[in-house]
Amino acid sequence: MLTETGLIIENLSKTFYVGGRTIEALQQINLEVVAGEFVNIIGPSGCGKSTLLRCIADFEKPTTGRLFLNGKAIKRPGIDRTMVFQNFDQLFPWYTIRKNITFALSVAAKSNSTKERNKKADYYLDLVGLSGYEDLYPHQLSGGMKQRVAIARALSVNPKILLMDEPFGSLDAITRVALQKELIKIWQETKVTIIFVTHNIEEAIILGDRIFVFQSNPGRINKIIENPLARPRSLDSPEFNSVWEKVHVHLNFDSKKRKGGGKKQGRAVAEKPLSSGACFFDI
Ligand SMILES: Nc1ncnc2c1ncn2[C@@H]1O[C@H](COP(=O)(O)OP(=O)(O)OP(=O)(O)O)[C@@H](O)[C@H]1O
Ligand SMILES: [Mg+2]
Repeated sequence: MLTETGLIIENLSKTFYVGGRTIEALQQINLEVVAGEFVNIIGPSGCGKSTLLRCIADFEKPTTGRLFLNGKAIKRPGIDRTMVFQNFDQLFPWYTIRKNITFALSVAAKSNSTKERNKKADYYLDLVGLSGYEDLYPHQLSGGMKQRVAIARALSVNPKILLMDEPFGSLDAITRVALQKELIKIWQETKVTIIFVTHNIEEAIILGDRIFVFQSNPGRINKIIENPLARPRSLDSPEFNSVWEKVHVHLNFDSKKRKGGGKKQGRAVAEKPLSSGACFFDI
């Protein structure tokens, strides 16, 4: 074991058996995430990204392999690993946004008083820029605001790892960029470890210290790319383009097999910039 503080995944495989079919969602995953790191997972649809997050959260049991957090085997779900999803309906619609958070806190630490829980909820709502909205209900918020609440709730229980499964995937481009900036600020302030799944190369490079590029059938790690860019990162720098090319090459490792494959595409062709709407890589 290389580190006692952080996440270690050893030889993890996950196979599903459905309707007479065997699906190798993940095969031989070995990775390590150091405490406080911000890493991204990127890969084609179906390569096991969500399954891996669910195994870390212990919502799924791996078929083989072991996971350790801070040197201890992960054996059950726990508030040391919280998750934020892509969809906007993660909140309890019958609770105000403050109550959405205090409810999570009451489950996590029953000993806290109502006053303490309210104070904590307001602190985290302030952290995500939602001071003044505490008494609204989820249906009164925009998609971006709901995602902010989901992030505030996930952080409020003081997790060791924040698992984010395409949390900005359904947002418009402007809100997405704003939330990326906020997330970096929050990460720097809280020092929480973040594992962030995305389909968007630019998002991965803006956010992560390292990028795990996955491939599918079976789902596995194709390449781990170190991100050398200093923060704040600019989408326009030549260095950004060079990391982008690296990620793109490894995402398109089998592009020759695809229609029109083998042709190298630049960033401008393959991925619309973050400011222009949906932006997915060309696989
Ligand atoms: N509960 C399940 N039962 C059966 N098969 C499953 C289950 N969950 C996932 N799979 C299969 O495992 C594979 C990986 O799924 P997963 O959702 O992890 O992919 P993903 O990389 O997150 O894809 P996407 O980018 O579309 O979200 C897929 O082939 C999927 O059909
Ligand atoms: Mg997924």
